[in-house]
Amino acid sequence: MSAQHDVKILFSEAEIAARVEDMAETLKHAGLQNLLVVAVLKGSFMFAADLLRSMHRKGMQPQVEFVHLSSYLEGTVSKGHITILKDIESDVSGRDVLLVDDILESGRTLAFAKDLLTARGAKRVMIGVMLEKPNKRAVQVQADLVGFQSPDVFVVGYGMDVAHNYRQLPFIGIIE
Ligand code: IMP
Ligand code: MG
Repeated sequence: MSAQHDVKILFSEAEIAARVEDMAETLKHAGLQNLLVVAVLKGSFMFAADLLRSMHRKGMQPQVEFVHLSSYLEGTVSKGHITILKDIESDVSGRDVLLVDDILESGRTLAFAKDLLTARGAKRVMIGVMLEKPNKRAVQVQADLVGFQSPDVFVVGYGMDVAHNYRQLPFIGIIE
């Protein structure tokens, strides 16, 4: 299947790279200590990898963990319920944590993750997302760092998928 030629570029590789560099610069000055970056799988993998390398170039030394969350388990649990498919291994108590995800939409995923890490004693939980979709919030949660405001359309690429396709695209696009 050729799954690239029907995608219109919304945010190019160069635009993303510049924005990620800005976000790392902001993080550098955020006074974070003993930082643990927690990337929310699967959609954040490309953004997290770029952001972490940018943080490194700016002299930061975060540790990295992954959590895999699903907003439903096929056919068994209703939509809106969050399930932990893979948990982090580190103790977060007393630590600064940066949660990294692809899109903040309803907010359910990140609200769940933030509450979880806060309940485990994290000192501070920041949220960094590549995209934010406006007027979609179902729960109260705010991102501290946002790459771009997304139009209210389904986007793919840069880690984001539709039915497991398009995650590999180095840009963010819209299926035509
Ligand atoms: P929510 O904020 O809990 O609604 O979850 C947002 C999650 O839904 C993101 O992390 C993505 O995995 C997924 N998602 C939302 N909108 C899109 C989209 O336009 N394209 C691809 N995935 C999306
Ligand atoms: Mg996701």
